[in-house]
Formats: sequence, structure tokens, C-alpha cells
Amino acid sequence: MTIDLNSGSDADTRAIGRRLSGLLRAGDVVVLCGSLGVGKTALVGGIADGLGIDEQVTSPSFVLMKKYISGFIPLVHVDVYRLGSLGEFDDLDVYEESRSSVLVVEWGDAVASSVPDDHLEIRIEITGDSDRSIRLDAHGNWTDRPLEEMSE
Ligand SMILES: Nc1ncnc2c1ncn2[C@@H]1O[C@H](COP(=O)(O)OP(=O)(O)O)[C@@H](O)[C@H]1O
Ligand SMILES: [Mg+2]
Repeated sequence: MTIDLNSGSDADTRAIGRRLSGLLRAGDVVVLCGSLGVGKTALVGGIADGLGIDEQVTSPSFVLMKKYISGFIPLVHVDVYRLGSLGEFDDLDVYEESRSSVLVVEWGDAVASSVPDDHLEIRIEITGDSDRSIRLDAHGNWTDRPLEEMSE
């Protein structure tokens, strides 16, 4: 299933993340694709907010993986932008680290070959100054989730 959404602002993108958080469970993998500055971290901020996490989500520019534990479900946020190779990503052992968390990975294209079959892919594109198209693509068991709730 594919859902296409539009965002007109940073706040819209965060609201989409908050709404998505209601569909998330421990063990989920969400992969975020899109160029630098498109709003991936903003979306993760909305997800964190919806999960009841009281910390501010920032781009883990130097820290590659950050875990937030103050919400209903732990959230593991990984930004692979600074990673030199897929080998370094494997070294982080993110899937093992996040088995009972929601895992959100920014810059998913770089890790596509190691992503588990069951995952939600989110692709954000710039369509105007502050306009974004946000496409949600269900893979594997994600096709059973009520993703249509996202466009209501
Ligand atoms: N519709 C929008 N959605 C998300 N961010 C937006 C939007 N319009 C403008 N922005 C701005 O774009 C930037 C996105 O930054 P960020 O979320 O860190 O991007 P990324 O993680 O993809 O590099 C922020 O400065 C944000 O305020
Ligand atoms: Mg980012």
C-alpha cells in the first residue's frame, strides 16, 4: 500500500509524524529517504512527540545512533549520513539494539540492502519553498497496518 501526503510546513510534517506514531509498535523499522534539509528529522521529532518522548530530537550528526527511552515505546534514531560505508552501519548492530524499540533510520537508500523485509519506507521530496510530498510505502507485514488512517 502507498499513501501520498502533502505537507505545507515544518509543523505539518511534525503532525504527520505524530499521527504515524499511533501505528507504531516495538520492533518496527521505519526508513526515511530524501535529501538533506527535506524534513526527515522534523518527521522523527513528530514521531517522538507522539510516543510521549519529552526530549527534543536533533540530528545525530556525530552520534550516529541515539536512543530515547522516556516515551511509551523506546525510539532508536539513526542517521547514516555520516557513515562512510555499509560496513560501519553493520558495526552499529542497529537491528539488535532496537529489537524492542521503534527504529527510524534517516538516509535509508544507503542502508537499503540491509533493511528487513518488514518495514515502512517514507520518501520526502521538496515540492515548493516549504511544501513537501511525503510518500508512505508499506513493505512486508506493514501491508496489514491501517495506513489509510494516515490520509484521513
Ligand atoms: N514542510 C516542511 N516539512 C519539514 N521541514 C520543513 C518544511 N518546510 C520547511 N522546513 C524546514 O526544513 C528543514 C528540515 O530540516 P531537517 O528536518 O533537519 O531535514 P533533514 O533531516 O531531512 O536533513 C527545517 O529547517 C524545517 O524548518
Ligand atoms: Mg536529518
